[in-house]
Amino acid sequence: MASNQTKQMERQAKQYWNQARELTASLTLDEKVGMIHGASLFQTKGVERLGIPPLVMSDGPMGIRQEFYPDQWKAMGLTDDSVTYLPCNSALAATWNRRLAKEMGNVLGREARGRGKDVILAPGINLKRSPLCGRNFEYFSEDPYLTKEMAVPFIQGIQNWDVAACVKHFAVNNQETERLWVDVTIDEEALRTLYLPAFYDALKKGGSYTVMGAYNRLYGEYCCQSQYLLGDILRKEWEYDGVVISDWGGVHDTEAAANSQLDIEMSVTYDFDEYFMANPLKQAIEEGRIPETAIDEKVTRILVLMMRLHMMDGKRKSGAYNTEEHRKTALSVARESIVLLKNKKGQLPLPAKGIKRVLVIGENGVCVHANGGGSAEIKALYEISPLMGIKKCLGGNVKVDFLPGYCSNLEETDNGEINWQEASLESGHKDRESSGCQEGNAPLPFEKKAGKNREDLRKKRDQLREEAVKAAPFYDQVIVIGGLNHQYDCEGADRKDMKLPYEQDQLICQLLKVRPDTVVVLLGGSPVEMGEWIHNADSLVWCWYGGMEGGTALAEVLYGLVNPSGRLPESFYKRLEDCSAHAIGEFAKEDQVDYREGIYVGYRYLDASQIEPEFCFGHGLSYTTFSYHNGRLVKEGEDWYLSCLITNTGNCHGSEVVQVYVRPSVPSKEGGMELFQELKGFEKVELKPGESQMVFVKLDGNPEGKRIAVGASSRDIRMLL
Ligand code: BGC
Repeated sequence: MASNQTKQMERQAKQYWNQARELTASLTLDEKVGMIHGASLFQTKGVERLGIPPLVMSDGPMGIRQEFYPDQWKAMGLTDDSVTYLPCNSALAATWNRRLAKEMGNVLGREARGRGKDVILAPGINLKRSPLCGRNFEYFSEDPYLTKEMAVPFIQGIQNWDVAACVKHFAVNNQETERLWVDVTIDEEALRTLYLPAFYDALKKGGSYTVMGAYNRLYGEYCCQSQYLLGDILRKEWEYDGVVISDWGGVHDTEAAANSQLDIEMSVTYDFDEYFMANPLKQAIEEGRIPETAIDEKVTRILVLMMRLHMMDGKRKSGAYNTEEHRKTALSVARESIVLLKNKKGQLPLPAKGIKRVLVIGENGVCVHANGGGSAEIKALYEISPLMGIKKCLGGNVKVDFLPGYCSNLEETDNGEINWQEASLESGHKDRESSGCQEGNAPLPFEKKAGKNREDLRKKRDQLREEAVKAAPFYDQVIVIGGLNHQYDCEGADRKDMKLPYEQDQLICQLLKVRPDTVVVLLGGSPVEMGEWIHNADSLVWCWYGGMEGGTALAEVLYGLVNPSGRLPESFYKRLEDCSAHAIGEFAKEDQVDYREGIYVGYRYLDASQIEPEFCFGHGLSYTTFSYHNGRLVKEGEDWYLSCLITNTGNCHGSEVVQVYVRPSVPSKEGGMELFQELKGFEKVELKPGESQMVFVKLDGNPEGKRIAVGASSRDIRMLL
């Protein structure tokens, strides 16, 4: 049966390629050129006389972006382009739940189709090499295995709906500083061990129909026209036959692009006919400088993509957006993404009965985040803030008050001038001041405009803090909700440090002094330093940009309606220097970044250097407890499994993420360091109180001759085989 299906698929593929080649042969040069570059900001040209439609693309990972004018970075201001706002990819990764990844992909694909899109520019799967990368919230993890395990079902979900995923940004796009030209050098072994596997699996196992090149350079070549990346690796070695799309403005040269394996050039400017792969290419072909055959393969691949998506045969699935079902998925992902980092005295869950007054403190309690972050911005149908979630959960008989406690300057970031994406090529978007991102050292233009200076802001923050600290003793429960926002987790610039912005450390410290039972909730796409107050906090909850139902999910976790089951998909360092890229001073440099740390990124570095993180990779607590027994390795056919018996030993329903780390039995010295362990398998299992289950964790690779560590996090190992 399976082989019949494979044969049928092979026949179909052959048919597509033959038809596409024939079609290509019947196209004029103008028509072909029209298909391989942006004819508007998110669309190529079709060929009407032959029924070839344009290819319509849209950002992004957290939902389908609002409509822009075809030739202006200006939102059309429609009333029908609000969508389901999904949790960010870091949140999805924190669920460690492949089924949810598929479900979320299904939502994204179905909404993309519902909005008439052909290609959804997601997911972003770059590795989190540093906690400072501005786009970390769009990415999954510091670990290639976790990234690929979550990205593959996500892509399959998207493509169920006859919409193409577009995995991005290929490759080593791990910083935003000077992202348009920074040149990465890296030892090939590290490139292949850490930075390429997720792309390989996304394309080969996930079957992503398209891939987006990165802005930056690798070994001196721009990724979007790189012979090495696109030619040698992608096409020759991986035999990838999908469509390669440039990042917006990632092409730099007509000849190099035409002769590379790039298929479509997209950009941010409005001079569509002047794109490198538009008139300049046509002219070069007419003058015989570039052979016309160089673009035939590109066009053929685009036509095959259209056939795969059933864009021309009348058999295409229809989609839908803003459905009840989609909102439920957004909520399920948000629930499972929340990570309970600390619960020392079992203070959480908070009682919802017998209390009269709750005080929520912190701007993130009321802040909504959908419409920020860069190209990942979403016009959400709605977004439940944490405060609304808490009020909704407590239901009116409890008085829930809010005090800001600190303030950002978010309200002034939109200065109404040109869209950052429009200006992104000139400025390289390196300048946060043009993006409205983050507080630099100098006053930002919008602050000046609003007549504010740092002194005024400081005074305002002092006042807000005092007000909150003064009020805190008079409530039954105090919850402070802080963290980052899209001034910091933002495309086009990196954070400058790992500190909590807006003087939140002072606020939390002072609150913990007057109310040691203050529940601390932080939200963000990357870790922050917590050293100033963490030892005094009994409970700490981490949530990411949780989508439209993020506030609902948080309240459910705080009040015990949902037992938290998120696990950190990245290390939460104590200090920035504990991250290898920073330890060697190789991050956010302007021209060249040398990834000299090799494979020692994230927990690989922390483990090898015996550095204690604040919270380790894989960490996350539950309101119940689990025991691990009877671990053994099982081989079935070519596949290896770790089987073990997991029991819920506590008294509430909960989910455990069984994590399997493989350790070399003979220490292997690489780059002068010793590789300690690597994540090679995980499985999430849901158990009632007292229930036991045999869990089979499929392992990546052959573990023979190695030691197997099984546990609840990278540093909470329960069994060593
Ligand atoms: C980003 C891409 C995005 C594209 C289109 C670029 O600035 O790097 O991730 O898909 O813009 O908005």
